[in-house]
Amino acid sequence: MRSTLIIGNWKMNGKSRNLAEVDKLLDGLNGQSCDLVLCPPATLIAQMAAAVKGSPIQVGGQDCHWNSMGPHTGDISPEMITDAGGEYVILGHSERRSDHGESDSIVNAKCVAALAAGLTCIVCVGETKADRSAENTLSVIENQLHASIPENVHLSKLVVAYEPVWAIGTGLTPTISEISDVHTFMRRKLIERFGDEACSVPLAYGGSVNADNAPEILAQSNVSGVLVGGASLRAEDFLKIVSCAA
Ligand code: PGA
Repeated sequence: MRSTLIIGNWKMNGKSRNLAEVDKLLDGLNGQSCDLVLCPPATLIAQMAAAVKGSPIQVGGQDCHWNSMGPHTGDISPEMITDAGGEYVILGHSERRSDHGESDSIVNAKCVAALAAGLTCIVCVGETKADRSAENTLSVIENQLHASIPENVHLSKLVVAYEPVWAIGTGLTPTISEISDVHTFMRRKLIERFGDEACSVPLAYGGSVNADNAPEILAQSNVSGVLVGGASLRAEDFLKIVSCAA
C-alpha cells in the first residue's frame, strides 16, 4: 500500500527567510502519515535539508544536468543535489521544457544520471491546451512517458507527475474524470512496458492543486499524490493540502 505523496515545488521563489515556512510546516505536521517532498530553489537545498533532518519531509531539486561534473555553467549535477542533502529531483517540468527547450531525450538522459546518483526522479508529463483541444492528450502523454523514462529505470526510484501545461498556475484543472482517465492510462502504459512492478510507481497530479480540489483528486484510484506549486509556498496553505492526504 503506497502512502500519499505530497510534493511542493517552490520554483524560482524563496530566499533564506522563507525557510521559516518550513519550521511552521514541521510544527503543523503532527505526525501525519503521508510522504512529503519539498523542492526549493537550488540555493536552499542544503539549508532546507538540514532544517527537516529527522522529520517526515524530504528535499529535492527542481532539475539537474545529465553529467556529474564539468564545464556546464549555471547547471547543477545530481551528485550536487545529493551532496546538499536532497533525495529527489523533478525532471521535465513543463517550465523546463518551454524555458530551456528540454526535449524528452534530454529528460531521459537527466533521469539516467539522477538515478545513478541515487536520486528519486519525479518525471513530469502533460499536454498543452492545443493538444487537449485536438484530442491528442493520451498520445502526447504516451510519447512523453515512453521517451522521457529510461528503459532501465529503477521503478522504486520513479514518480510520474501528470501536469497539464494549461493547468499550471492558472487556477484551471481538468475535470475529475479527465484526471482519472489520464492516470489510469499512465498506469496501464507503465505496466505494459515494465510489468506488474509498475503498479507501485506513485502517480501524482499537478496543476492548480489547492485544499479545495485536493481531496477529490487524491480520491481517484490511480492518483497517489499531488505536485503543488503556488500553494506550497506558505505552510498554512500547504498544510491544508497535507491534511487532505491524512
Ligand atoms: P501550480 O504549479 O500548483 O502553481 O499550478 C504546479 C507545478 O508546476 O508543479
